[in-house]
Amino acid sequence: MWAERLERAATDAAAFQGTGRMTSQHSSTANARTRNAKLLAWIGGMAALCKPDSIHWCDGSQAEYDRLCDGMVRGGTLIRLNPSMRPGSYLARSDAGDVARVEDRTFICSRNRDDAGPSNNWTDPDEMRRTLEGLFDGCMRGRTMYICPFSMGPLGSPIAHIGVQITDSAYAAVNMRIMTRMGDAVLDVLGDDGDFVPCLHSVGAPLAPGETDVPWPCNETKYIVHFPEERAIWSFGSGYGGNALLGKKCFALRIASAMARDEGWLAEHMLILGVESPEGEKTYVAAAFPSACGKTNLAMLIPPEGFDGWKVTTVGDDIAWVKPGGDGRMRAINPEAGYFGVAPGTSMDSNPNAMRMLRRNCIFTNVALTDDGDVWWEGMDGAPPSHAIDWQGNDWTPGCGRLAAHPNSRFTAPASECPSLDPDWEDPDGVPISAFVFGSRLSRTFPLVYQSFDWSHGVYLAATMGSEATAAAVGQAAIRRDPMAMLPFCGYNMADYWRHWLEMENRVPEPPLIFRVNWFRKDGNGKFIWPGFGENMRVLKWIVDRVHGRAPAAESPFGLMPRHEDINWTGLGFPRETFLDLTSVDRAAGLAEAEDQRELFDRFDGHLPTALEQQREHLIERLDRAPEMWRMEG
Ligand code: GTP
Ligand code: SPV
Ligand code: MN
Repeated sequence: MWAERLERAATDAAAFQGTGRMTSQHSSTANARTRNAKLLAWIGGMAALCKPDSIHWCDGSQAEYDRLCDGMVRGGTLIRLNPSMRPGSYLARSDAGDVARVEDRTFICSRNRDDAGPSNNWTDPDEMRRTLEGLFDGCMRGRTMYICPFSMGPLGSPIAHIGVQITDSAYAAVNMRIMTRMGDAVLDVLGDDGDFVPCLHSVGAPLAPGETDVPWPCNETKYIVHFPEERAIWSFGSGYGGNALLGKKCFALRIASAMARDEGWLAEHMLILGVESPEGEKTYVAAAFPSACGKTNLAMLIPPEGFDGWKVTTVGDDIAWVKPGGDGRMRAINPEAGYFGVAPGTSMDSNPNAMRMLRRNCIFTNVALTDDGDVWWEGMDGAPPSHAIDWQGNDWTPGCGRLAAHPNSRFTAPASECPSLDPDWEDPDGVPISAFVFGSRLSRTFPLVYQSFDWSHGVYLAATMGSEATAAAVGQAAIRRDPMAMLPFCGYNMADYWRHWLEMENRVPEPPLIFRVNWFRKDGNGKFIWPGFGENMRVLKWIVDRVHGRAPAAESPFGLMPRHEDINWTGLGFPRETFLDLTSVDRAAGLAEAEDQRELFDRFDGHLPTALEQQREHLIERLDRAPEMWRMEG
């Protein structure tokens, strides 16, 4: 049925190509801005399926963005913020049931179940296609179908890839304009026969004739579906974040990870930052942390006292595409063009660069509205407002017992507004990566920082990472394994992905060093031991020193660690004993951890690379030889 429709549309498109104009029969591509046959065929087919009232090809201009936002202000989807306080900025409030990615509704529909692996939801692709065709049939009635051509990565970069999102959400379209390079220029790069990833999105809320719309249309039924072999995405029922901005998690991670496996590169849930020394030495680091574990904070870090002349610059805060470069280094780009960051907790104290970035031209979703037309969220600087409208549109006062902003409320901000933006962030060749850092939210057992003994050990440290659950993981245990912070984002069998990671070592003569960090270890009173945020610079500098062969390390059962004297403590009163606590290794806890990892590995029986099980055994051997409580000497 679907294939038939596609074929018919292709014939239509070919006819259009031949005559150079549209007849009324082919109205779906009448105002097309391209002659790309695959694109025209796909649009034609999807328009026939979704049956929108009209079709709008997004050119990506500021004027178009302003028009779409004006329309959403009139329709109640957006609230224009006070222009003297937040010029060019808007607030959106989502449906209360549409506030985060829905991992339990996310599917990897490969031909074989085994290729999706035990950590992904899987349905047979033909069966899923039938389900989706039913859902998408007429789903855009009464609405406009927006066509958003976008590039993930600098336009025309050899590392970049093109996608086209069809959506019936103007909110998604304007957010895509911030988060990607979107519009006419992409069609120029695509050309007549260029390839793209088709990304179909609908909020799943058709309007009957005369029916008035709600501010945040969506559907209780949600499907976020990926066809990795075909490299296609179908998303139904949600307008929020990674469910709806399909360039991000769906394309740049799930589909791209499958492309990366086939083509010998990496698509990762990583921030990219540059560290510049007072002498001007530049070192780039890519770091993976699970959702809501501090990537944006680290990417925009401002060095603390004791680091005069040091600078941290931002390339990306969420996704890195890493490819072997001609210079023998791994080179990374941030495929995005904006930041979709968690608002609560963002303050001049925790992330001054983000606060400055948010002064204008951004879209806030599910934060609180103050009486003077500005935004507010928990953890912002200063006293809470005495009155506000909360994320659900209700009156809010401090102490009313409800949160003013949803915990997963977010901002969408253009990269160009980021004060710490790296001058080379759009280098089409990417920036050279010297270290990969993996961090998770663990209150016990795991030391502040340690380096892997070698590449395989590093892959093992990344693969066995675990973290406490986030907003998007419904009904999960408090702690879950989150290999490489990619558990919800790997588009194929996770154990094959580990194998791919193991093999990447051989693709460049100088692979990056690999580190684990943990900012979240707690003391007996449940308080974070490490001050974190800007102070993470002290750890970052040791990592950079290791990269350049300048810093020694102590050998612990877990990996190589800085000694107290290897860290610059200027300006931070951090007791030596506390540092020794923070880097200690409890043998019994370590052995329990190694035992628990077996459960993870057992799930991937038949695919698990033996190198990883060997690493687990080596850890047990090292712990067996270690004292009951391993502590740094001296
Ligand atoms: P996604 O955008 O969801 O992928 O996540 P992200 O990794 O960018 O998350 P984000 O930066 O928004 O994470 C914010 C959370 O991490 C907040 O709860 C912060 O308080 C916490 N956080 C960030 N850095 C630190 C740190 O150094 N120490 C501690 N204790 N918490 C931190
Ligand atoms: C995450 O959940 O890791 C995010 C937010 O970065 S979303 O784009 O919604 O996936
Ligand atoms: Mn993320």
